[in-house]
Amino acid sequence: MSEKQSGTSPKDAVSRREFLTVTGAGLAAASTAGCAATDSTSIAPAAATHRRPRATAPFDSLRDYVQALDEHGLLQRIDAIDQDAYEGTALMCRLVDIYGRFRAPIVLFERVRIDGRWIDGPVIANQLRHVDCEAILFGLEPVTNDGPATYRRARVYLDDMLDKAGGEYPTIPPVEVTREQAPCKQVVVTGDAIDITRYPFFKNNPGDSGRFLNTTSVFNVDPELGLNIGTYRCEIKGPRHIAVGSGEGQTGHTMFMAAKARGETSVPIALVLGQDPMIWLVSGARIPERRGKQAVDELATAGGLRGKAIDVIKCDTNHIRVPAHAEMIIEGEISLEAFEPNGPYGEGSGYIGAVYEQAFSMTVTRITHRKDPWFVNDFTGITRPLIEMPSAALTVAGLQRFVPEIVDYRYVDSVTFFSIKKKEPGQALAVGKRLAKLIPVFKIVVMVDDDVDIWNPADLFMACATRWQAFPASHIFENLPTMPLEPSAPVRGQTAKIVIDATRQWPEEGGPEHYPEYSRQVLAKHDPDIFTKVDAKWGAIIFGDGRGGNRG
Ligand SMILES: Cc1cc2nc3c(=O)[nH]c(=O)nc-3n(C[C@H](O)[C@H](O)[C@H](O)COP(=O)(O)O)c2cc1C
Repeated sequence: MSEKQSGTSPKDAVSRREFLTVTGAGLAAASTAGCAATDSTSIAPAAATHRRPRATAPFDSLRDYVQALDEHGLLQRIDAIDQDAYEGTALMCRLVDIYGRFRAPIVLFERVRIDGRWIDGPVIANQLRHVDCEAILFGLEPVTNDGPATYRRARVYLDDMLDKAGGEYPTIPPVEVTREQAPCKQVVVTGDAIDITRYPFFKNNPGDSGRFLNTTSVFNVDPELGLNIGTYRCEIKGPRHIAVGSGEGQTGHTMFMAAKARGETSVPIALVLGQDPMIWLVSGARIPERRGKQAVDELATAGGLRGKAIDVIKCDTNHIRVPAHAEMIIEGEISLEAFEPNGPYGEGSGYIGAVYEQAFSMTVTRITHRKDPWFVNDFTGITRPLIEMPSAALTVAGLQRFVPEIVDYRYVDSVTFFSIKKKEPGQALAVGKRLAKLIPVFKIVVMVDDDVDIWNPADLFMACATRWQAFPASHIFENLPTMPLEPSAPVRGQTAKIVIDATRQWPEEGGPEHYPEYSRQVLAKHDPDIFTKVDAKWGAIIFGDGRGGNRG
């Protein structure tokens, strides 16, 4: 349904800044009473001058990456927020309300009030969510105001990478650097000086049980499987005490339980904070997919994805190697003798979740960090999940081995879209049913033809509206396994599912003898260059001021 868009044009940042200056979102933050030592809290435009050279991928550190976001006009600096009044959370909600989850800016809070204390940040949020991050992370220029085109640009790059490496992402093993080359060792905190409550870790919501480190990469090493990295919410229980919420089925959980089964009473662990964006991505998603007992070096994958080895340094109190350019490392021991509760916590589903009773209890043994460390908070369930294209490209490459007709895949909050080059009647529905049964989180599976751009929401709505007949092109499963977090499930962990076949129904499938032509395609057939010509002639209107843009 979509034609290719091309070209870049002026940034959309101007309209966003204007909005923040003149509307309630700006005023709400600006008028917050008594929340800062300075008597006004303002949203300032990102720095206009850059002392450092322009930042581009590969990004060694969070700071380099945030600089690149700033240079792309995506960063909003905010002097101070009173998180005791949940201002940061409410501001993020309003930014998402106005700009949508795919285009809300990255925010940087300079100072934060937590538990009555003003703590210096900065604290960054939403840093791997804006659609333009899909391109910037790989050193590509986003296509201004055009999400679907930006996705396509990233996809071409990633498909090429996967092709060259035989369907997997390439790997580059990490390299060990010296202590002097490792900024994460600039400050060392030991013994009674350790107090994690001093740092700006947020309580996001009054419904949460407390303050969480919710953007850690948890590093642990299994004797058989090697290093694992996973992002699990970690609840602060005391100055040196954290409840690590690695859920059942996660590799981290499996490794801890294997150590317990071997009779061990504790395992060493390291929480990596303020990591570079590729490590954060790999840590929070199944990239690469761990297959059974096969060892997978996720740091080597992060290195391969960014085309440069990750610099690592050994922890001070254990043998785990951690990223040298991270902002902070919290080293410690997980006790395997008893579990403890973690949560409730505002989940990715957007709802306050149940208490996770079987979290792992961590005692902090050392903290090392950069001078003036930066922090990241995740407004879980408010912002979009992490960028999608690296997982999507890998998933499609994997699925095509079994169903070569699958062209593309997108997963948005349990609604899953597949485009397919249908070869025979009934094929799309059959493939959809297989996938719905196979993958617990696929609750609504929508199958579309390969001329539908599944990265363009308008195309998806069109396909459902104009190609789908609820009967017979649907299938309902009454009861299949799902994630325990599914809020609508009457029984936890079980759900009904639907498969929607929104491909053009062939006559053999009960569809019409003749399907009418899509009028936009008739126009493109008439003049294949018409859209490029119009872009060139009226680019300022189409891209420049946001009026015609902000797709996807
Ligand atoms: C922001 C974010 C928060 C997450 N929080 C949790 C969590 O609290 N517990 C959990 O088990 N998984 C959580 N996940 C999902 C895991 O990080 C993800 O499934 C990862 O692939 C697990 O890695 P592992 O299989 O190597 O252990 C989170 C992911 C993200 C991106």
